[in-house]
Amino acid sequence: MTQDEKKRAAAQRAVALLPRDEYIGVGTGSTVNYFIEALAAVKDDIRGAVSTSRASTELLQKIGIPVVTLAQSGRLPIYVDGADEINRSLHMIKGGGGALLAEKIVAHASERFVCIADDSKYVAKLGTFPLPVEVVPMARSLVAQELIRMGGKPELRVNFLTESGHEILDTSGLNLDLPVTMEEAINHIPGVMENGLFARRPADVLVLGHDKGTEVITVSATAG
Ligand code: A5P
Repeated sequence: MTQDEKKRAAAQRAVALLPRDEYIGVGTGSTVNYFIEALAAVKDDIRGAVSTSRASTELLQKIGIPVVTLAQSGRLPIYVDGADEINRSLHMIKGGGGALLAEKIVAHASERFVCIADDSKYVAKLGTFPLPVEVVPMARSLVAQELIRMGGKPELRVNFLTESGHEILDTSGLNLDLPVTMEEAINHIPGVMENGLFARRPADVLVLGHDKGTEVITVSATAG
């Protein structure tokens, strides 16, 4: 199977995990695009969606799923999104597409986080993928200096602004062995809006696409 076929298989399997007649959270990225494609078949069973990006909003509206705000939906029973890396504890690096701030908010507002991914994303150790750090532009160089002090090598994502008008420092080299500690430490730097570590609120379920089909992995099955 190609990487795209694995993404599509994982996305299709996640549709079966959705509750009926509820609002759902929808992430951003190429794997989520397959998920939205698969939602078309069950759209009448979905009350509406909270979207994490303009791109996902457009696709959802195109298939006739109402997009609402988090204020309208309240807490969500389920959030489905991709990841750039996910480890055995279902901690993730996200934000390759730059939607990490909305993704972190919707993840926090959701009872169940279902990550959909192809097997190239499932790693023993986080950190090969540079960690996206979203910053207020005026603080960019100060935040970069702090990240260097913490052992990182930040690189400005060129010609890119997030939907909230922030910049992204893609940061390699950080030690992510204690991802919760690192997630909190980075977010304590003034000027940082959010970072792409999803460890304080990891995924609850990983639907992984691989050569033999799909597999549903939970934290309890991977811990220890
Ligand atoms: C978007 O900002 C990201 O967090 C995506 O969830 C992540 O980059 C995965 O994207 P793909 O599904 O395109 O690999």
